[in-house]
Amino acid sequence: MRPTTSNEIRQAFLDFFSEVHHEVVPSAPLPQRDNPTLLFTNAGMNQFVDVFLGKEKRPYSRATTAQKGMRVQGKHNELENVGPSARHHTFFEMLGNFSFGDYFKSEAIDYAWTFLTGVMQLEPERLFATVYLDDDEAFELWTRYLPAERILRFGREDNYWVMGDVGPCGPCSEIHYYSGAMDQITAEGVNNEDYPEYLEIWNLVFMQFDGQPDGSVIPLPRPSVDTGLGMERLVRVIQGKDNNYDTDLFSPALDRTQALLGDSDEQRAENLVGYRVIADHGRAATFLIADGVLPGNTGAGYVLRMIIRRAARFGRKIGFHEPFLGEIAEVF
Ligand code: ALA
Repeated sequence: MRPTTSNEIRQAFLDFFSEVHHEVVPSAPLPQRDNPTLLFTNAGMNQFVDVFLGKEKRPYSRATTAQKGMRVQGKHNELENVGPSARHHTFFEMLGNFSFGDYFKSEAIDYAWTFLTGVMQLEPERLFATVYLDDDEAFELWTRYLPAERILRFGREDNYWVMGDVGPCGPCSEIHYYSGAMDQITAEGVNNEDYPEYLEIWNLVFMQFDGQPDGSVIPLPRPSVDTGLGMERLVRVIQGKDNNYDTDLFSPALDRTQALLGDSDEQRAENLVGYRVIADHGRAATFLIADGVLPGNTGAGYVLRMIIRRAARFGRKIGFHEPFLGEIAEVF
């Protein structure tokens, strides 16, 4: 049976990689204690930075995680997109598999393809891959699964991943899913905001370099792999929704908001942006507090206070006049 609920999908991912000898490693907490350039974990690879750099040894060379993340500052900041966007969040979950000098491009692509088309049973005809401009090797590897016209080359902005100003980085290959009518499918829709039926779901980073403060890069001790599969997006594809908020990850929070306000379905639709901001920010605040962050004036505490205030402000706009975020926290 194909996994369908978000909990089944998360577990299926970890099980799949565990079976091919990846250590299942717990999610790191959201607040970053070791990395001065980041307030929050913003990708699955953060907790493995020193392993990629060869400074830390672990008893395994392959790992898999379901990692909690926040993208509200620095290089990866989605705050202003939340609400209007059907696919951006402050708090998110990233499913990942990692190779620390073990396998490289070929297996990374094989695993991703097998998981998506085998375990998750996505239709191969709906998938596109992108590769970094001159990454002919990745292009060739993809031709084992996809016709050349569905393998696209993009530049640094889309297909070169950096965590922050410094640290492990490298060219990447993304997998995009098309959810529209098959007679309308076109390569033009990939990485194109005018085509909402195309969704980037998985990023395979071929970690090869360590970015230096002066902008130069030095090679990592051994080529490695860091991947990030957007949990909310995969769940949306599997559950056949046209936005992340209608999945089982968020819809209970939107339902609770509607019940608390006593809104009709029409009122809910009219106030959709507010509903989504409350669901997103309520979820983020819940996970931050669970990881020990408290509202404050600086750093992580400031961000938490800001998203609580932002949720409260949108709440007031759509009719809340009493405290309500505690009710949303309970949903999560
Ligand atoms: N670290 C990569 C990302 O966050 C996988 O997209």
